[in-house]
Amino acid sequence: MNGSLRMGVVGLGMQGIGHLENIRAHPKAELTAICDINKELLEERAAAFDVAHCFADYHDLVACNEVDAVVIVLPDHLHREAAVAALQAGRHLLLEKPMALTVADAEAIAAAAEVSAGKFMLNLSNRWMPSFAAGKSRLESGALGIPRYIFSRMTNRIDVPTEKLPWLQNSHPAHWIGVHRLDIARWYVGREITRVRALHREGVMKERGFNTVDFYQATLEFEGGAVMSLEGSWILPTSYPSLVDSKFYCLCDKGVIDLDRFRSELSIAGPESFDLVTPLAGNVLGQPTGFTVDALRHFVDCCLDDRQPIVTAADGVALTKALCTIVASAERDGEVMKIR
Ligand SMILES: NC(=O)c1ccc[n+]([C@@H]2O[C@H](COP(=O)([O-])OP(=O)(O)OC[C@H]3O[C@@H](n4cnc5c(N)ncnc54)[C@H](O)[C@@H]3O)[C@@H](O)[C@H]2O)c1
Repeated sequence: MNGSLRMGVVGLGMQGIGHLENIRAHPKAELTAICDINKELLEERAAAFDVAHCFADYHDLVACNEVDAVVIVLPDHLHREAAVAALQAGRHLLLEKPMALTVADAEAIAAAAEVSAGKFMLNLSNRWMPSFAAGKSRLESGALGIPRYIFSRMTNRIDVPTEKLPWLQNSHPAHWIGVHRLDIARWYVGREITRVRALHREGVMKERGFNTVDFYQATLEFEGGAVMSLEGSWILPTSYPSLVDSKFYCLCDKGVIDLDRFRSELSIAGPESFDLVTPLAGNVLGQPTGFTVDALRHFVDCCLDDRQPIVTAADGVALTKALCTIVASAERDGEVMKIR
């Protein structure tokens, strides 16, 4: 492996700051540039992370000679133009999930990745959670047989969409959070999704003035016959002890993989609160640690070693097709739809 990777980050919000911290902690990465349209935030992050090049326009960041790789951490609906600009400039690109909110946008990013001199990785960092990685290697050993039925729930507390991310009205809980578990399911099954039927319902979010659904439930069929039930919401009460609730169950011919967030968490009860603290990613004695760091390490290693990251643009396009079909089927009140 040669040298270090000079990295620029576009979008310095809730998720962007995690990338800044992870890059700063990585021995083979160097944070050389940042970009955000919010000038106050840009100045704040520049001072906190001691960054040489600061831009309000991502075109300037991708053109900067001090940047080998770009991390795009913009709101879900703004990924296409910035991703294509970075790839056309020949930069390596780590793009936050979801790849895009339309198939046309995802395909445009994949087409730019195909001809770019830069590597592309979609940041589906949950593949680096030890539990999901262990499930994958057990499946690959053949010990469990073939996945036949997968159930997955991934939900947020209501303060996530209503207080942290007003732009989520442009997205959908399937794109925003369901993408992680859909990716794990597709990775486990190793086949494409062919048919989808989904329902969603409105109410709580609309009453609060947010033009979005409360929850969805989708039934998906894979090539070869595996079936998945995927559900998600973002209306859990603020009393819920964690920002995220998740469950994942993969029934195979010869075994089962079963992951329950409540069985894998540290709980801390204070005088007025009860929190589940994730042991999967965080800060240990001043150092970022866990699956988000490991996903970044994989990207940096692939760029420096001239290898293809394991989450590809083709994965992103396939997932976008399935997620858009979930939304379309739900909008048609559960019509069964094929994925082409
Ligand atoms: N991998 C994960 O588990 C995970 C977790 C959270 C968020 N995300 C993804 O990360 C992305 C960002 O989410 P977030 O939570 O950080 O959102 P956020 O709203 O907190 O941050 C987005 C930032 O982008 C900036 N921005 C908006 N338009 C811009 C433009 N044209 N040029 C430059 N900056 C611009 C905003 O000012 C803001 O600071 C989303 O795609 C989200 O789905 C991924």
